[in-house]
Amino acid sequence: MNKKPEDTALIKKKMVQLAEEIRFHNRAYYEQDAPIISDADYDKLFLELLELEAAWPKLVTENSPTRKIGGAVDAHFTQVKHPAPLLSLDNAFSIGDVEAFCTRLNKASGKNQLPLLIEQKIDGLSLAITYEYGVLTLAATRGDGQTGENVTANARTIAALPKHLKEPTPLLSVRGEVFMLKTVFAELNSAREENGEALFANPRNAAAGSLRQLDAKITAERNLSIFLYDILAYKDKQPAPATQKELLQYLDNLGLPVNNKYALLSTTEDIAAYILQYQENRHQLPFDTDGLVLKLNDLAAREAIGATIRAPRWAIAYKCPPEEAETIVEDIIIGVGRTGTLTPTAILAPIKVAGSTISRATLHNEDMIREKDIRIGDTVLIAKAGDVIPEVLRVLTEKRNGSERPFVMPKYCPACGNPVKREQGEAAWRCNNPACSARLLESLQHFVSKKAMDIDGLGSAVLQLLLDHGLIQDMADLYYLEEEKLATLPRLGAKSAANLLEAIERSKTQPLSRLINALGLRFVGEKGGQLLALSFIDMESLAQSSLEELEAIEGLGEKTSQAVSNWFKEKENLKLLEKLRLAGVNMLGEKPVQEGALTGKTFVISGVFPGISREQAKDIILSAGGKVTESISKKTSYLLLGDNGGSKATKADKLGIAIIDWEGLQDLLKSFP
Ligand code: IVH
Repeated sequence: MNKKPEDTALIKKKMVQLAEEIRFHNRAYYEQDAPIISDADYDKLFLELLELEAAWPKLVTENSPTRKIGGAVDAHFTQVKHPAPLLSLDNAFSIGDVEAFCTRLNKASGKNQLPLLIEQKIDGLSLAITYEYGVLTLAATRGDGQTGENVTANARTIAALPKHLKEPTPLLSVRGEVFMLKTVFAELNSAREENGEALFANPRNAAAGSLRQLDAKITAERNLSIFLYDILAYKDKQPAPATQKELLQYLDNLGLPVNNKYALLSTTEDIAAYILQYQENRHQLPFDTDGLVLKLNDLAAREAIGATIRAPRWAIAYKCPPEEAETIVEDIIIGVGRTGTLTPTAILAPIKVAGSTISRATLHNEDMIREKDIRIGDTVLIAKAGDVIPEVLRVLTEKRNGSERPFVMPKYCPACGNPVKREQGEAAWRCNNPACSARLLESLQHFVSKKAMDIDGLGSAVLQLLLDHGLIQDMADLYYLEEEKLATLPRLGAKSAANLLEAIERSKTQPLSRLINALGLRFVGEKGGQLLALSFIDMESLAQSSLEELEAIEGLGEKTSQAVSNWFKEKENLKLLEKLRLAGVNMLGEKPVQEGALTGKTFVISGVFPGISREQAKDIILSAGGKVTESISKKTSYLLLGDNGGSKATKADKLGIAIIDWEGLQDLLKSFP
């Protein structure tokens, strides 16, 4: 190459620009957990700089990003020096690059072809974990490779990570990858979207954002996973593993989670075939991977080959090409969620990406459309965020012909016509009309869904049918449906109507946690439902709880407590609960009852008691371990009868059930030692 002086100045300028750009994206990715460009675009920048540095080695600076690892350490966390540097990996983008890597290894070792252990490259973030005498004592993020952030309390909340090893070896420091399952990511983002919170770009960022939390309770809620793949420090009586395969087996034997989907291969042909096959099937994995890591299996041979300041020479990351596709935005439509959030969705010309055909992609909110300048008629590049959720990466503006139409958020709810509002600090426009038909349908769908009341046979079409025929106006109406009316509905018929009613009837006994989730209080999902149901004896005491009581529930959080408290202040909601209660829907909490005088006994209360309300009477029974139900059945142990409680007494008499008065109850309570 002819290196003229003016070239050098230009090249230098280009290198400085690239380095600056890479540093900027490093900060977004590692420190803010919110990347701006795709991994593939980042890799392109990095490769461009690497190539320039290779051609002009004299121009390489000490602080070039190609010589550095990761990002800075967040000042909110204490710093931890790693027992050994947490190196990065060099990349291979083609089978040719992999072959060149194998040739380099062969040359360095003087052997023909060394066995390589090929592992999946999990798209998460590195974590270094130390066990002293078998006890987890420290966990740190990678940081700049030498020093990381102390996230021990957070790491301890990762269910798969044992707090104690099966064998208490004096010292073991391991490295692994923390990640989030695709299903967990999809659920987390949809809950965040529903609540108007900022979305995570992909499972990696969600995992990083969840681990680097100041509050370990939040990390615990995020359901993170981990696989371990390296040893950083080791002290044990038995000799250290000699190969990567033995190393993984050693970690596995200690009870540490390892990914056992690896292959030990020795020829370039086998490696190439493995890569191609992996590329085909990787989307079926429950977690995101961005490629494979090829590692020399022999650990002693690794020592001999060594590492650069940034990455080992004995390993390489094969990066799978990102699956992206071009298509047209045919329309942008607005959906209304059950909390009233207006969500724009792009209707796309159908196209195949990462194993499935995509015809729509959520655009999340108004800001996202504006930032990406997405117009109806645009040609866009799409991919699947975290391999699951279709997303519009960017507009190919060069393909515009002037016919594209900018999208304007509606000022009125497309379902009910009510004016929509965007609260300060929120990304979402909302329809605040509680009677909005779209909100109602979404709420009903949530109410009957698998993880809520689990009512089979009530899909959105049947719900819509019930709404259209005026048979239901709220969730409680489902419990008052009549068979004759149902059977006359078009497309339903007598058999389906009977099945439906049976499924509805069965759902009455669902645990309270499910009912709470089903009611769709803001910020309260499956987990919130469980926390609340475990904290109160029944729905009644939850409804009457104070904000302080709610805030004292471990794991509930301030925002959720406030939302719960507000929900129970709304008259409409209380009416709905009363209607559900009268229909016989279970309202008993899941609070573990203490053994008491009334454990195993079921009471029905009837009539009035001087100086004592029915609620107080109920609380007394519940706190002594008894149960209280509405109507008398063979399962009733006692009828607690006050003044004017006539009709229930007749029924109790008929069934031979003991009737006691207030004093009788006192006697029962006293009989317990
Ligand atoms: S080995 C010196 N193995 O990929 C050993 N890394 O792009 C270096 N990663 O920083 C790491 N899965 O966070 C290794 N099976 C695996 C991996 C893996 C994911 C990550 C790791 C590393 C990054 C490099």
